[in-house]
Amino acid sequence: MTVLSLFPTRVYTAKLQASGWEAFNGRLLRECEQYRADDVAGRAWSKGRYPGGYTSYGSLNRMHTLSPTFAKLGKKLQRHVLAYARTLEYDLEGRDLSMTDCWINMMPRGVTHGLHLHPLATISGTYYVRTPRGVPGLKLEDPRLDRYMAAPPRTANAQPENQPWVTMPVAAGTVLLFESWLRHEVPPNPVPAERVSISFNFNWF
Ligand code: NI
Repeated sequence: MTVLSLFPTRVYTAKLQASGWEAFNGRLLRECEQYRADDVAGRAWSKGRYPGGYTSYGSLNRMHTLSPTFAKLGKKLQRHVLAYARTLEYDLEGRDLSMTDCWINMMPRGVTHGLHLHPLATISGTYYVRTPRGVPGLKLEDPRLDRYMAAPPRTANAQPENQPWVTMPVAAGTVLLFESWLRHEVPPNPVPAERVSISFNFNWF
């Protein structure tokens, strides 16, 4: 008997760098807090669309062009994105896979970010700056769910690759990458401590 696994959904995780990420995250965190304090438009945008939290997605969504620290993060991420692209065996045809968007997400207790995908991007991901114990991971959804017609549910202890949803644990200093069509969400933060991350899109030009 042969059973093949075809059309996989690949998700990449890695430490941003072997050492020194704590100091780098300290700088990123200070800047995130400063931008939140200064970004009146972003705070207003977040009020309706990110209740209780702050995202610079609607205001400062090209942070890598505004801050040298975020530009440095973009450079560090480039290496991971290319490694991920190699595992996907993309033929980039000599064109660049480069960062187009990069924004801040700050989620105090109770804040959630519902299911969504990142249209018009190739590879998306998040870098984790601050992840106090108990903050939610990143919940990923099987992209074939809308075609499952008479499919039975999966057993509770099914392998991750057979589950309709998988929640990836998140940890400060790590990068998580996925193809931009993959729907994902951040469940509500249940702990009285802020979860801080930086999300980004890479596009193929
Ligand atoms: Ni997202």
